[in-house]
Amino acid sequence: MRPDAVHGEMCRPEAISPRLVSTAGLESNVDGNFNLTDNFDFSLHNPKAKTILVAGGAGFVGSHLCERLVRTGHHVIALDNLLTGRRSNLAELQHNPQFRFIEADIVDPLQFDGPIDEIYNLACAASPDLYQADPIHTFRTCVVGSLNLLDLAKQKGARILLASTSEVYGDPEISPQPESYRGNVNTVGPRACYDEGKRSAETLFWEFGAHQGVETRIARIFNTYGPRMSPDDGRVVSNFVVQALTGADITLYGDGKQTRSFGYVDDLVEGLIRLMASDVTEPVNLGNPGEFTIIELAEIVLAKTGSRSRMIFGPLPKDDPKQRKPDITRARMCLDWLPKIALSEGLDLTIEHFRRELGMHRVPVAEVA
Ligand SMILES: NC(=O)c1ccc[n+]([C@@H]2O[C@H](COP(=O)([O-])OP(=O)(O)OC[C@H]3O[C@@H](n4cnc5c(N)ncnc54)[C@H](O)[C@@H]3O)[C@@H](O)[C@H]2O)c1
Repeated sequence: MRPDAVHGEMCRPEAISPRLVSTAGLESNVDGNFNLTDNFDFSLHNPKAKTILVAGGAGFVGSHLCERLVRTGHHVIALDNLLTGRRSNLAELQHNPQFRFIEADIVDPLQFDGPIDEIYNLACAASPDLYQADPIHTFRTCVVGSLNLLDLAKQKGARILLASTSEVYGDPEISPQPESYRGNVNTVGPRACYDEGKRSAETLFWEFGAHQGVETRIARIFNTYGPRMSPDDGRVVSNFVVQALTGADITLYGDGKQTRSFGYVDDLVEGLIRLMASDVTEPVNLGNPGEFTIIELAEIVLAKTGSRSRMIFGPLPKDDPKQRKPDITRARMCLDWLPKIALSEGLDLTIEHFRRELGMHRVPVAEVA
């Protein structure tokens, strides 16, 4: 199935006015460049266009998803509290008449005028450093925020997709991890606010699907990287690339032999769109099954950047999973989806992005301390 197939499904010929009506104080939070009370511009009216809400739209994955959806002809509202996302991620869309940005928190009640056809719930800090900074808010985001978006989906008759995570498998005892694996998660550890929050969100999505007539989709996303990751959010790919480019020590935890699978963001966006378009209500793993140790990743980044940064080793954080490798049979069979971008190619694009972001035009020669 081609992802474009979905765009023929629904027609909404009437004008759409997605005006936020009830979140207190919202308008004063909104960047003057985005006028929420304006209608979308229908001068290029496309009867197949949908109105799509992307919660977490200013984040790393969300901003790529918004761009892709706008490019395909849809009207997109990005909603984000800018906790870990950045306005600059949406710079390309800022003046696009098919795009609106709303600064709001999904934990607060949400109300919109006008129809919404699809909702992607990507709102949640994904970096362990950042989601552990305010664990109660992280858990609220996963549970209360998901409930608010599910209520909105029910009210609008919208299909809604949850960006869940491979963290629902915890520190897995089997590899690769299929969707049927129920996980090995600590309910009271530092990662629990996120891992258990996402598990609870999956339950809410499942029950709204079963009992409230809402069309729900659940993506279990494995480690994803690419341009627009925040240089300082503590995720392994951005950490290593920034450290290598700036000549800082590359920090590895434990013996560096724990494994991860790294998926490029464009592949993930394709998978999310295909899942939304599908009739699959069970959770679906989206990730790249290529498996690398953390040391291997560091070595590749060092080689690609020409950096002379040295590797240093720190203690392994509590509950850090020892291995991660998705079984993507379901995505392949049900969505006809396979990741296309190998780690080497994706890292080249990511390194180039960070060079630009750090204002570097060539690789610095790092001093070995
Ligand atoms: N990138 C990955 O490797 C990965 C892996 C597994 C799951 N995911 C999931 O995918 C989604 C997107 O991840 P990302 O990598 O883009 O992370 P990100 O931190 O870059 O983006 C998350 C966005 O959500 C916003 N946000 C957080 N809490 C919010 C709230 N209460 N209300 C409104 N907005 C809120 C943030 O400001 C940010 O813009 C997340 O839900 C994450 O759990 C990502």
